[in-house]
Amino acid sequence: MNAQVSGLRDDDRRPPVNELLEVAQHGLALKPKRLPSWMFYDERGSDLFDLICEQPEYYLTRCEIALMAQHAESIADVLGSDVRLVEYGSGNARKTRMLLRHLHAPVAYVPVEISPEPLRQSVERLSREFPQLPMQPLCADFSKPLRFPISPRAPRRTVLYFPGSTIGNFESREAAVLLRKMRNEMGDAGGILIGVDLKKDPSVIEAAYNDAAGVTAEFTLNMLTRLNREIGSNFDVSAFAHRAHYNPMAGRIETHIVSRRAQQVKIGRASVAFRDDEAIQVEYSCKYSMEDFAALSAKAGLAVLRVWTDPEQMFSVQYLVRASTVAR
Ligand code: AVJ
Repeated sequence: MNAQVSGLRDDDRRPPVNELLEVAQHGLALKPKRLPSWMFYDERGSDLFDLICEQPEYYLTRCEIALMAQHAESIADVLGSDVRLVEYGSGNARKTRMLLRHLHAPVAYVPVEISPEPLRQSVERLSREFPQLPMQPLCADFSKPLRFPISPRAPRRTVLYFPGSTIGNFESREAAVLLRKMRNEMGDAGGILIGVDLKKDPSVIEAAYNDAAGVTAEFTLNMLTRLNREIGSNFDVSAFAHRAHYNPMAGRIETHIVSRRAQQVKIGRASVAFRDDEAIQVEYSCKYSMEDFAALSAKAGLAVLRVWTDPEQMFSVQYLVRASTVAR
């Protein structure tokens, strides 16, 4: 183990255990029914997501890695020396490694992750490869206000790294709120390095969320398996189906869990009725044009300083700073 690895900090703002039942009951009482996409990520869900990333149709991960392979050096040059790198979500060791390898004298790496086990694992892996780099894992929900650990020495700037197009899971108003929160946390001299999936031929996007091997369908339906195990609901998983369509007006994939028949499901003490073909909305994956994302950034008081893309312009990594610091 790396001597630099400090103990996990749990800042006590993680959701209580019974929150899952409450959130499920609340979401299934909405019209239309809706469950949050973070519910996908139990251990099995995280494994299935890793499998999705290997599917030929799921271009996002492949393109972002190709982009990092080509541009990590130039990205590191733009970030400059003595950066404190804070990563929102720590499941992206591969891309992070590509960035860390090129950073000039980084001050610390601070992965922020809600699940303690993946957090511990990613720190352990990375500290083997970067034994000199202080690691300061933070066990917390990155959508809530964060207090970063005290740096081992003063960073020139704090850069918030948010890869994977996870920002796409937030509706545009919530995305602006999250970016605004990140803007506060990074400070005046800080920046945000963020992975953003780009608009393209809708059939390419739709295929990425409907892979032929059915891994995404399994990932989606695993949410019901998880609920059955953790809150004791009695979803008959075979009586539900995965459905993902691209909504061109909203510029996003909308994923649903659809009931294959009329049925009743026990959620805690309550019984929830489903009509035949009734859908639970479980995920948005928003896609952006360069103009879309510049406008979203502006709403959060940020300006896009640089954009890198893969050769086919499928995916982008963008560097945002406070709008007030950019000369106009
Ligand atoms: C991890 C949020 C980027 O929306 O593309 C993949 C999750 N869902 N396939 C995405 C996901 C279905 C993924 N993100």
